[in-house]
Amino acid sequence: MEEQILRRHDRPAPRYTSYPTAPHFTPSVEAACYRAWLEAFDAALPLSLYFHIPFCDSLCWFCGCNTTVVRRYEPVANYLRRLEREIESVARILGGQRRISHIHFGGGSPSLLAPEDWRRLFGLIQSAFAIAADAEIAVEIDPRDLPEENVAALAEVGINRASFGVQDFDAEVQKSINRIQPFDMTRRMVDAFRAHGVEKLNIDLMYGLPKQSRAGIADSAAQVVSLAPDRVALFGYAHVPWFKPHQKLIAEDALPDADERLGQFLDAAGLFEKAGYQWIGLDHFARPEDGLARALADGLLRRNFQGYTDDAAGVLIGFGASAISSLPQGYIQNAARTPAYNSAIDAHGLAAERGIALSAEDILRRRIIESLMCRLSVDLPAICEDSDFSAASFAAELGELETLRRDGLVEIAGGRIDVTASGRPLLRIVCAAFDSYLRTEVARHSRAI
Ligand SMILES: C[S@@+](CC[C@H](N)C(=O)[O-])C[C@H]1O[C@@H](n2cnc3c(N)ncnc32)[C@H](O)[C@@H]1O
Ligand code: SF4
Repeated sequence: MEEQILRRHDRPAPRYTSYPTAPHFTPSVEAACYRAWLEAFDAALPLSLYFHIPFCDSLCWFCGCNTTVVRRYEPVANYLRRLEREIESVARILGGQRRISHIHFGGGSPSLLAPEDWRRLFGLIQSAFAIAADAEIAVEIDPRDLPEENVAALAEVGINRASFGVQDFDAEVQKSINRIQPFDMTRRMVDAFRAHGVEKLNIDLMYGLPKQSRAGIADSAAQVVSLAPDRVALFGYAHVPWFKPHQKLIAEDALPDADERLGQFLDAAGLFEKAGYQWIGLDHFARPEDGLARALADGLLRRNFQGYTDDAAGVLIGFGASAISSLPQGYIQNAARTPAYNSAIDAHGLAAERGIALSAEDILRRRIIESLMCRLSVDLPAICEDSDFSAASFAAELGELETLRRDGLVEIAGGRIDVTASGRPLLRIVCAAFDSYLRTEVARHSRAI
């Protein structure tokens, strides 16, 4: 019954890793604007850095990331020279060595960088910025056949969190997504990182993949638990072949239906909770002693482009193709395709191409959406207190949530909205009520569950 109710409300919605979301960025905000925003940045505030490495050794058919498959290392090496130039340009504009609290290498598969390139890249980052002694430095790892010397190099340069892509351990599912990665291969990699002193580990699992079943995902989840990662992300497969044409390689008739998807999600979530993980926001799970669980308890959990974070820095500088920076004035994204990124860096040292300047209303709506995504609740009168808006101005949004309230998926009292335990899978739909850009929406999103 409950599943029927959830399905009735299920519809496409953004994942809200930013607000406004990337489809609403425009070319009117570009490199000159980025330069001005960086120049105005308060030198006392800490920064986070994100580096995008858009290369992989092979293509997973489900992949929604911005990446390309490379057979030779040369395009990677060429790209790294541009990344170095971008770091130098940004550091020069910022002036002085800015304090860094958090660094994330995402992709693609940053793990394919050669050991000497990790050393060189880190040498440059360390000369351009002052990395805090307790900074978290995380890297996304494709665990398939990573040589021991690469693991050693990552540990040597100071990586202290590794995030492994797994998706599912079932051999049939792996075949149907073109990603062969037996459990032992992943276990060996987990052991290798731990042996080199990288102890904070994350694992990505997915549900809604072709040939996945509730029983199968429960097995995969149990295998993940046996590896004892600190965090697990449980992503719903976003099937968007109109945006990622290679997803047409996925057999649509082998995709689980809406009921099955929801069952897979709830089964795996229940299993992680039973194993002692705390459910964080929409789709993350963390051991109680992990930073995400502690941030949730302390009311300090944040949402950013990597999902959920305990990083307190209010400013994120993105480097590399398609990377997005989040500054007090707004969001700005680099050219998405690698050739365009390389040419822009060669021409001006920066590759910012589109973005959005935030209005006071955007900032308020962003706070509301972030509160819902992180804490599953928002207190409208409290959040409106230091703004020019009143809670009463959100009457239409509350009206939109009325059907969810009637179905017991949210509770609304005195301007406070609480998403109930059964409403949690529809968190994105609750947030969407506060997204004023959806009314002029051109982008097509993946389904909420
Ligand atoms: C950059 S990859 C992780 C590192 C590495 N490339 C790997 O796959 O092992 C980021 C994660 O995004 C998730 N992902 C990729 N495509 C997705 C899609 N279409 N829908 C939902 N999640 C997706 C996967 O869980 C994947 O592990
Ligand atoms: S899921 Fe990871 S390894 Fe697979 S293609 Fe995407 S980025 Fe590359």
